[in-house]
Amino acid sequence: MKSFLRFLPLPVLFASVLAASAFAQEKIKVGEFASLTGGNASFGQQSHRGTQLAIDDVNAAGGVLGRQLQLITEDDQSLAGQPATIVQKLIAQDHVVAVLGEVASSKSLEAAPICQQNQIPMISPASTNPKVTETGDYIFRVCFIDPFQGTVMAKFALAHGWKKVALLTDVKQDYSVGLAEFFVKYFKENGGEIVREQKYSSGDKDFKPQLTSLKAAQPDAIFVPGYYAEVALIGKQARLLGLKMPLLGGDGWMGDSLLKVAGNSLDGCFFSCHFSTGDQRPVVQDFIKKFRAKYKEEPDDMAALGYDSAMILAEAIRRAGTTENDKLRDAIAATRNHPGVTGNITLDEKRNAAKPAVILTIRDGGFKFTQSVAP
Ligand code: PHE
Repeated sequence: MKSFLRFLPLPVLFASVLAASAFAQEKIKVGEFASLTGGNASFGQQSHRGTQLAIDDVNAAGGVLGRQLQLITEDDQSLAGQPATIVQKLIAQDHVVAVLGEVASSKSLEAAPICQQNQIPMISPASTNPKVTETGDYIFRVCFIDPFQGTVMAKFALAHGWKKVALLTDVKQDYSVGLAEFFVKYFKENGGEIVREQKYSSGDKDFKPQLTSLKAAQPDAIFVPGYYAEVALIGKQARLLGLKMPLLGGDGWMGDSLLKVAGNSLDGCFFSCHFSTGDQRPVVQDFIKKFRAKYKEEPDDMAALGYDSAMILAEAIRRAGTTENDKLRDAIAATRNHPGVTGNITLDEKRNAAKPAVILTIRDGGFKFTQSVAP
């Protein structure tokens, strides 16, 4: 080797050594945007931890295509307007091969058109509003969608004999507005009656006027398809005003401060979500063990979905044999039966995943598994 190198012209030698080391070291850049701070910080912190754990797992096992993955994470501060700027930067400046994010549907809906325009695949871990993947053929998600989730909760209410339901919707969130709509559709078509509807906006703190109005309509239950921060206050204020009926909700209830703020005021309430730590499949128990070891806490839905989104991307890069955008897009679209921690993931022709929903109830300061509902 030494003697051979001696005969190479010096510039060629330098160039080839540089090229070889650059190739070996060049990491595959994956972008992530998440609400690490601000009103939905629990969403972003959890999804980021799950995503990072998957990237670390892949890298520890040798990476993909002989290269390590590099996760470039940006905080959108839970603010509208940030996802667009951030994703633009991830694509134009960092040259990421794909984008992972967001949890909240409104945030994903901001970023999706930019990824689509640039033909960079985007995988949302947890945004359930149907419009997200309808943006275009480069936009995917690894979770179920709200027409399913809304139906699950409407059926659940009817099965309990709660035929008169009131609604309390967050008009600032596409997620909340959409989920309310899908709930109502199935509920009404199957004999339910919506006795009153009230609205609020993300960030509101006082829900007493709306709750007072809902109380007067005497519903059997109230459907509150909101996010954990507001739902916690709604639960507290509802009980203070003497509303005793159960509140029902969707995956947006999942957040670290829900029970800390609500105390026991949400006891006896129900919501649908994506993941149960009680799932005994080895892939789930293994994930939980690794997550606990790394972060000293329990993974929740967003963590599990974040993990699945990054694993599906890594696997698609491996199958594509390249990070070229169109081939990578096709490989993601071809995802079938991926053994995810949130269930087996097959992406359908609309780039969504059909998976069971888990219904949890709140009791004794914790979430308790009630049932799993298949699509
Ligand atoms: N599904 C919610 C949305 O689309 C986000 C969410 C997912 C929140 C999972 C909590 C858990 O906005």
